[in-house]
Amino acid sequence: MNEHTPRPDGGVAPPAWTRDHAAAIERSDDTVAPIIYPPEAPVDPELHIWDTWFLRERDGSIADIDGYRVILALTSSSELLPGKRHDVATIRYFYSRDGENWETGGPVFDVDEKGPLGSRQWAGSALYDEGTVYAYYTASGRRGEEELTYTQRLAVGHGGTVETTENELRIEGPWTHDVLLEPDGEYYETESQSRGMIYTFRDPWFFEDDGTTYLLFEANTPVPEGSDACGGDAAQQEFNGSVGIAESPTGDPTEFELRPPLLDAVCVNQELERPHVVRRDGRYYLFISSHDHTFAPGLDGYDALYGFVADSLHGEYEPLNGSGLVLTNPVNAPFQAYSWLAYDHGDELLVTSFFNYFEFDRPSLDEVAVLPESEQLRRFGGTLAPTVRLQLDGNETKVVGTLGHGHLPVASEELPESWWDRGERLPN
Ligand code: FRU
Repeated sequence: MNEHTPRPDGGVAPPAWTRDHAAAIERSDDTVAPIIYPPEAPVDPELHIWDTWFLRERDGSIADIDGYRVILALTSSSELLPGKRHDVATIRYFYSRDGENWETGGPVFDVDEKGPLGSRQWAGSALYDEGTVYAYYTASGRRGEEELTYTQRLAVGHGGTVETTENELRIEGPWTHDVLLEPDGEYYETESQSRGMIYTFRDPWFFEDDGTTYLLFEANTPVPEGSDACGGDAAQQEFNGSVGIAESPTGDPTEFELRPPLLDAVCVNQELERPHVVRRDGRYYLFISSHDHTFAPGLDGYDALYGFVADSLHGEYEPLNGSGLVLTNPVNAPFQAYSWLAYDHGDELLVTSFFNYFEFDRPSLDEVAVLPESEQLRRFGGTLAPTVRLQLDGNETKVVGTLGHGHLPVASEELPESWWDRGERLPN
């Protein structure tokens, strides 16, 4: 239990991911994914595709719409330098009958004066409820702004519908866009309170538990200057990530109230990204993605999927595998994948992510010279990564193989026999 978190209700601090936990982060056979090679065909060669999520029912199951499953993803033109993509991110949808071959549907929202709030959209989640689509997203910046700003608000576009034919699925408006939540400055840090790296208040993730409707999100815990958190170490205090939660008092998926965070990582890590929960055997597995460079001074983590488990949604989360590390990239390709999303499949979990930076095999000088320095020695995958198969046993997890790039089976589909794929792994 940590004692640094200011709580307006005078209550106890949330469970913590501590420096002791994080100091134990270390690659092992059970936590390293096989090396990724570029796919024969990306999902869409004209697009960079990164953070991805399913269209789901209220109970969390993947929506089956006349035999199609749907994913939504952050996208940009693939002509852009990958580092620029966050500034223009647009949510597009893709659909598939077999979970392997994806068709591009197009942008989810029309961009006009009634379009999405913010100047671009960052990650979210999507609910299909009684024929209506609720597309949750992070409204980043302000609509129509001339200079990019980094304000982040949790928003939803609702009112969308889905039409299908034999060969096509279309998500159509008109949409109504609402801001759902902004940070309150007490549980959740505001932009002006932020002391270090850019603050976070993003990645709304819809979740229902025992009939109660929630949104989880990525946030930060306010740590005022002069606080005695982290033994008073000001540099460590700037790393203050949290997993936020809000509740809908009526179950209305467009009305939420902030509640105290589920978990925080003050003195440990600045970004607990895209939080989501998988319920299994009466326990709650909470997953986040985080980066090597967002760990506090004196700690060394990886770009990885981290996980925690508790006996109830608001329970005492303990890090999985002792440190929290669940799935990372091989040491010789440490940035090959990011933004992992775990979902239930029978006895196992499947984990999707996007194919991120990998190194040139043999860069030719001509190829390299036209690129800015930051892009010269690496390429951007910009498509879905191979799906990773995980076994879960109490507080322990184990990587047991992969599926193809962007192969996303639903629970009713058998997993192919042939994908015990550790043979491809290069030594740690
Ligand atoms: C993770 C992330 C999300 C954010 C998005 C912006 O990959 O940082 O938290 O919504 O990327 O592109």
